[in-house]
Parts: sequence; structure tokens; C-alpha cells
Amino acid sequence: MLTVEGLSVRAEDIELVREVSFGIGPGERVGLIGESGSGKSLTALALMGLLPDGVTASGTARLRERDLVGVPERRLKDLRGRTVSMVFQEPMTALNPLMRVGAQVAEVMTLHGAPARGARERAVELLGRVRLPDPERIARSYPHQLSGGQRQRVMLAIALANEPELLICDEPTTALDVTVQRQMLELIAEVAPALLFITHDLAVVASVCERVLVMYGGRVVESGPLREVFARPRHRYTEGLLAASRLPPRGTRLATIPGTVPAAGTFPEGCVFRDRCAHASDDCATVPELTGDGHAFACRHPRD
Ligand SMILES: Nc1ncnc2c1ncn2[C@@H]1O[C@H](COP(=O)(O)OP(=O)(O)O)[C@@H](O)[C@H]1O
Ligand SMILES: [Mg+2]
Repeated sequence: MLTVEGLSVRAEDIELVREVSFGIGPGERVGLIGESGSGKSLTALALMGLLPDGVTASGTARLRERDLVGVPERRLKDLRGRTVSMVFQEPMTALNPLMRVGAQVAEVMTLHGAPARGARERAVELLGRVRLPDPERIARSYPHQLSGGQRQRVMLAIALANEPELLICDEPTTALDVTVQRQMLELIAEVAPALLFITHDLAVVASVCERVLVMYGGRVVESGPLREVFARPRHRYTEGLLAASRLPPRGTRLATIPGTVPAAGTFPEGCVFRDRCAHASDDCATVPELTGDGHAFACRHPRD
């Protein structure tokens, strides 16, 4: 349904996302994971046509027959929300503090041509669908009168308002308490038509997605069925990421990946992970291809 091929994102001469390719089928829930600075958010913003000024995308991304990259802004405004919708990490910055919640949900529908009449009732209905208690009262509230978890549900209602075919969530629960987080994740998994779920939290992605893409240095370095990738990671970066997320046996040290994520533009040539990898050799100086059916990885010294 979504096909991304050779998607690159650059700011001036720095390539921030490099030749990313993946697909998402109808109803499929795909996780995009990797340390901070890997290029996850830029990938999502490129699909939404929401890259910041001075940052450009190339390559192709198609949702069914429609192009998402290289489309004039006017066409994009029409597509956004109706075909692809996004929920961001911080709901407070995305909501208008001066406008009642119900009116904000109704507005995204009327902006896309829905008749004003009935939009408010639909808004209340949507607030109920994201399981906000007493949706009538919530609709009359201002964002500051709601909790962080409730605001994030409002954002989800807005994202779903025009019945998108694909929902993108970028760290949607990172700012929430763990107890609220679980309910939100269950809700997202239930209501998303198809999902691209971005997180740095491996436990979170495991609870929501059936397939996973591992990103590092702007590249997808491994992808496949989540259970398989988590049980048997092949790329050395994925191996390190998983080891670092596991609680070590008593008395042993917490595993870490040596070094830190380089700043954009300072990743090594060839395999982007090679300066932090214990297995790197001279042949890692050229970019390894992402190969394999189903479970693919771009590593010359994969874990067995
Ligand atoms: N507007 C921009 N101009 C230049 N570099 C940027 C811009 N936005 C993000 N970057 C850089 O691109 C890299 C990837 O960013 P991002 O996609 O936000 O990573 P992630 O979401 O995986 O943490 C980072 O090194 C970041 O500093
Ligand atoms: Mg991000």
C-alpha cells in the first residue's frame, strides 16, 4: 500500500536520510526504531511533506497510486490528513491553546471540505472513539484543562478525523506516564488503518508492531518480522541496541554500544556503524547492501 524507494533527505550538502526503502501493507503495523539522531523523524516528515525549510527529500514514496514526495504544497495540503496523518510526541505544541478541543477536531474536517453542519457532532463522536470519557465535556474544554494523556488522545482523534489510510506516530507516548502509555498504545494499535510507529523504546515497539525497521546513520540497516529480528538480530547495530535494552543478570554490567551517535554529516563512509563496531574490517569501507527476503540486513559480519 505504501511503497518507499530510495528516499533521501538532505540539508544543504549533508545527507540526513540515505536511500531508505520499505513498504507497508494494508492494516500492517511497522515500527521504525534506532537511537536518537538516526533519521527517524525526518523520514516521517518527508512522507508527510512537512520537512523544515532548507531540508529537501528525493526518491519516491507512493501511497496506493499517489505520490507523497516531490508534490507541490497545494496538492499536499489536500492529501495530508486524508491519506497520511501524523501524531507527534508533544501534543501541547500541536494544539491551539485558545480554541476549544471540539472545534479543533471539527476544523480539520471542514478544512478538508466536510460540511460545517454535523462536524461538531462528528467531533464528539471521534473523541468518544479514542475513548475519552464524557466526550461532550472534553469537546467544550481547552487543551490546558486536559491531562497529557487526554491531549494525546485528542491528537489521535484529529489524526483520524479524515479517515487516513496510513497513520504515522512519532514517539507518541514518550511524554506520558507508563500507566497511561499502555492504554494509549493499545488504542493506537486498534484504530490505526495501517501504522508507521516511530520510537527509540524497544519494549514499546514490541507491544505494537509486527514488523520492524532498524535505522542508524540515516539508513535502514535491518528489517523484518519483529519477533524474528528481536530474537535473532543479524546486524551488529541491532545486536547492540537489543543488548543495551536488556536488564543484565545481577552483578554484571549493563551492555552499551561503544561511542555515541555521530553528528549528522560525520558518519563514516561505507557501513555507517563501522567506527562503533567490534567486528568491522576493511571491507566495511563500502556500503553493504540491505539483502534478504523478509528478514534483511546490511552487514558484512552479521551475527549468526
Ligand atoms: N533542519 C535540520 N537541518 C539540519 N540537520 C537536521 C535538521 N533536522 C534534523 N537534523 C539532523 O538530522 C539527523 C536526524 O534527525 P531526526 O530525524 O530528528 O532523528 P531521530 O528522529 O531518529 O532522532 C540528526 O543528526 C539531526 O540533528
Ligand atoms: Mg525523532
